[in-house]
This record gives sequence, C-alpha cells and structure tokens, in this order.
Amino acid sequence: MELTELASALSIPPSKVEAFDLFLTTLVFLVFFAKTQDPSGAIKHLLTLVSYLLVKAETLSNTPFLNSLLDLIMHDSSPVLSSWFRSSKEIPFEFYFGNRLGDVADEKLEFNKMFNDGIASDLVLVGDIVMMTCRDVFKELKSLVEVGGGTGTMARTIAHVFPEIKCIVLDLPHEINTVKEDICLVEYVGGDVFVSVPLANATLLMDNF
Ligand SMILES: C[S@@+](CC[C@H](N)C(=O)[O-])C[C@H]1O[C@@H](n2cnc3c(N)ncnc32)[C@H](O)[C@@H]1O
Repeated sequence: MELTELASALSIPPSKVEAFDLFLTTLVFLVFFAKTQDPSGAIKHLLTLVSYLLVKAETLSNTPFLNSLLDLIMHDSSPVLSSWFRSSKEIPFEFYFGNRLGDVADEKLEFNKMFNDGIASDLVLVGDIVMMTCRDVFKELKSLVEVGGGTGTMARTIAHVFPEIKCIVLDLPHEINTVKEDICLVEYVGGDVFVSVPLANATLLMDNF
C-alpha cells in the first residue's frame, strides 16, 4: 500500500501523514515493515515475516503474547531498575512485587487470563517450530507428561501430530479447574510437581515453568 492509502485506511488525517511516515520509517528500520518501489516508481509498504506474527487474523498470531508483555503490570517495576541491579532477585518483577510472576498473576484474575492467553498463543508458534525442527524426539514415545502445562497448548500440538502418544498435562489444581471441558486430545491432571508426577515415558518441562 502507498502511504496515503495506508493513512486513509487507518483514518489518519492529512495533517498527521508526515509524522505517520516518520513512524513507519522507524518500523521499517526495526523490520516490522518493508518499503519497496514498484515499476511506476510508487513507494509501497509491505508486511514482513515479523509483522505477519502481529496480524490478529493469522493462525500463528503472537498478539496475545505481546499484549501481555505490554500490560502495565509488566512495567510497574521499571522505576526500581537501578535498585534491582544491586539486589539478589532474578528479575525486576520479583524485586518490585516481592513475589513470582505466576503468584502475582494468581491474585489478579484479569492479568492471569491475559498472561495465560499470551503464553498459549506463543506456544502455538513454538509448537509449530518444534514440530518442524525436532519432531523426531517424540517418535516411539507411548506417553508424555507436560509439567506446568497450563491450558496444554504444547501437549495438544504434540498429541495432534502424534495421536498414538498419551499426553498428560500436569498443573496446579486451580489452573486445571479453569481448563474448558471441551478441550480434548490430552488428559489434564491437577497436582503439584513437587509432590507427585503422573508416570509417563517422557516429561516435558519448559524453561518458563
Ligand atoms: C509460565 S506458565 C506455563 C504455561 C503453559 N506452558 C501453557 O501452555 O499455558 C507456568 C505454569 O506452571 C504452573 N505451576 C507452577 N508451580 C507448579 C507446581 N508446583 N506444580 C505444577 N504446576 C505448577 C503454573 O500454574 C503455570 O500454569
């Protein structure tokens, strides 16, 4: 699309088109947009591989994940960065709230939902990449348990590609209780990984657990 078409599609008034163009130039620099010249000499704006991930209608859309990262709660800790650098806490979030992200999310239902939806959308993308790049590691398995699997996005991706594998999702009971009943393909078990883990050939433990 040309600049004027794009501005009009986004209801940007002519007085702001110059500023909008500068903004687009920044997005081009960050590889969220590309500019090309067509044979007539007109400058066209195109989506890039990165910005396709931000288009809501795309199957692999990562917007819920981005929205959760941009939520104000995630930025509450920015004023304490300098103190955090000198502290022993691993992440600024924990330093500011005095608690792990998951525990804070448990207390703030709206944020918890946004956070879980964000992780789930990211895992759709991660799951696809895992299946494209290293699906062989799952071959021959008869069962697998995903620890801290939340809504089970990853386990469902595996079960979809390998229906012969019995996939179990273990998460804390209050998380499992929020899983919609119509989600099939995997078995959900409410429990604490530090108390017991269902028996399976393999355990999947993501590093965001
Ligand atoms: C960052 S989230 C991972 C989300 C998940 N992979 C998904 O698809 O939505 C970490 C998960 O670990 C779970 N968790 C935390 N402590 C746990 C424990 N002791 N036993 C089992 N699950 C736990 C949390 O409830 C949360 O769902």
